Amino acid sequence: MSDLAVDSPDSPNCPGVVGILGAGRAGTAFARALLRAGYEVDIAGTRPPKALRHHLRIYAPGAQAVDADDVAARAREQERAVVILAVPQEDLDEVEADWADGCVMVDATNAWHHEILPDWLQRAVDTDQPTSTAIAARFPGARTVKALNHIAHADFDDIRPELPRDQRRAAGAAGDVDADRGMVMAMLDRMGFDPVSMGPLGASRIMEPDGPLFDRRLRREDLLRRLR
Ligand SMILES: NC(=O)c1ccc[n+]([C@@H]2O[C@H](COP(=O)([O-])OP(=O)(O)OC[C@H]3O[C@@H](n4cnc5c(N)ncnc54)[C@H](OP(=O)(O)O)[C@@H]3O)[C@@H](O)[C@H]2O)c1
Repeated sequence: MSDLAVDSPDSPNCPGVVGILGAGRAGTAFARALLRAGYEVDIAGTRPPKALRHHLRIYAPGAQAVDADDVAARAREQERAVVILAVPQEDLDEVEADWADGCVMVDATNAWHHEILPDWLQRAVDTDQPTSTAIAARFPGARTVKALNHIAHADFDDIRPELPRDQRRAAGAAGDVDADRGMVMAMLDRMGFDPVSMGPLGASRIMEPDGPLFDRRLRREDLLRRLR
């Protein structure tokens, strides 16, 4: 499968503000990497912003604590909006279905065996479907791209943006709309990864925890080999 062109980081397609829902290990690691790359970050958990601020001072200094209802608001003011879903899958029934409406929603979540999943998500797992397609259906007003889920939170502090792309760790992105996938790939590039198109959302199964990409430091050619 051919790779997609990556938008230039200076392109108007590259957002300046990214909203992150979920401020745990993953959400704050994404925030740190985005902040280092020059993005502004709005981030929310279940706690009110005031209660989240101390946590962010430690784990994502510079990120702005907001209410979950507002986490996509500033991103949406841009021409093209990207938000990241970093809430455990077992909690997804508690997330408003319209939280990411009008945005490209990066699904950074994973299914873990110990979690009691919502029925609609468990059905995807039981039938060996990618969880991302069920998540895309659960948030129909957003355009879902699977990315970031296959990289452990601690690894986000080891990204090497100063390296040329072909020497960086590869990061996959799967999504049905080329422009949306390209926008997420531009974000991955700006964070310091070598972004690789994994094709449509239906192909994202290989990015999940029991798949060959998961939690492995791979290069572009490794990802492309596993796509064939
Ligand atoms: N940990 C990793 O290395 C890693 C890497 C990539 C992807 N992921 C995936 O990312 C997801 C989150 O993992 P994690 O390790 O970050 O979990 P975590 O440390 O337990 O953090 C979960 C976060 O989600 C928030 N949350 C829960 N329900 C919410 C809701 N209804 N609305 C808004 N926020 C809500 C929690 O907020 P409060 O604390 O305020 O309740 C908390 O900030 C999982 O699917 C995981 O597989 C994890």
